[in-house]
Amino acid sequence: MARGYFITFEGLDGSGKTTQLRRLAEWLRSRGHKVITLRQPGSTELGDRLRAVLLDSRSETALGPLNPMAEMALMFADRAQAIAEIIEPALAEGAIVLCDRFTDSTEAYQGGGRRLGSELVLQLHRAICNNLQPDLTILLLPSLTTSLARARRRNQRNVQKDGTDENRFEREPDEFYARIHNEYEAIAAREPERVLVLGEAESESSIDAVELRIRALVAERVPTLTHL
Ligand code: TMP
Repeated sequence: MARGYFITFEGLDGSGKTTQLRRLAEWLRSRGHKVITLRQPGSTELGDRLRAVLLDSRSETALGPLNPMAEMALMFADRAQAIAEIIEPALAEGAIVLCDRFTDSTEAYQGGGRRLGSELVLQLHRAICNNLQPDLTILLLPSLTTSLARARRRNQRNVQKDGTDENRFEREPDEFYARIHNEYEAIAAREPERVLVLGEAESESSIDAVELRIRALVAERVPTLTHL
């Protein structure tokens, strides 16, 4: 059986990538494709537990400040498990895998945001993830101001609604997010073939317009995907 196709979605918190991933998945399914979706961190038993430790701002109080290297190691532990349990088996079955964040996030957040450097992230990716590369990455990059405002609004809503608290990252200062933004731009410049960027103007248009743009990009890059 032909190997499947691996697409990742990337962007700052509040960039709209999760909504767009869901919509692309529905569209591909409606065209008869087998689609597997997952998010990082999370989606395996281990990953969901790691997600709680990594994102819940209360775990900071319970566990003490999380060391940046420990944070990065946990991101890779989550990824190794997801690759083994979900991603590789799905690709081997010929499915399209849509993953909400992958190693570009570690490069942007830990490499750039926490200043651990890109090279270390890429080395770990080679060692731990067998250097698995997405076939395509959709990077949503609205302006920093827009992303931050959306992410903070969303987090407040979640806490009020069901007590979910995933705001450990949202409490970081704006300079942290500026470094992440820059790192994403650097990744896109380095790998223009793999990474398709929807920049400020494109990703700040309506959700429907962005959805159509992503479909067009996917269809253009991978013509066989849209045909049954
Ligand atoms: P999200 O699921 O809402 O995108 O949130 C995941 C958070 O985890 C987000 O703030 C980015 C962060 N993160 C990293 O810092 N490094 C990583 O490798 C991944 C996958 C996520």
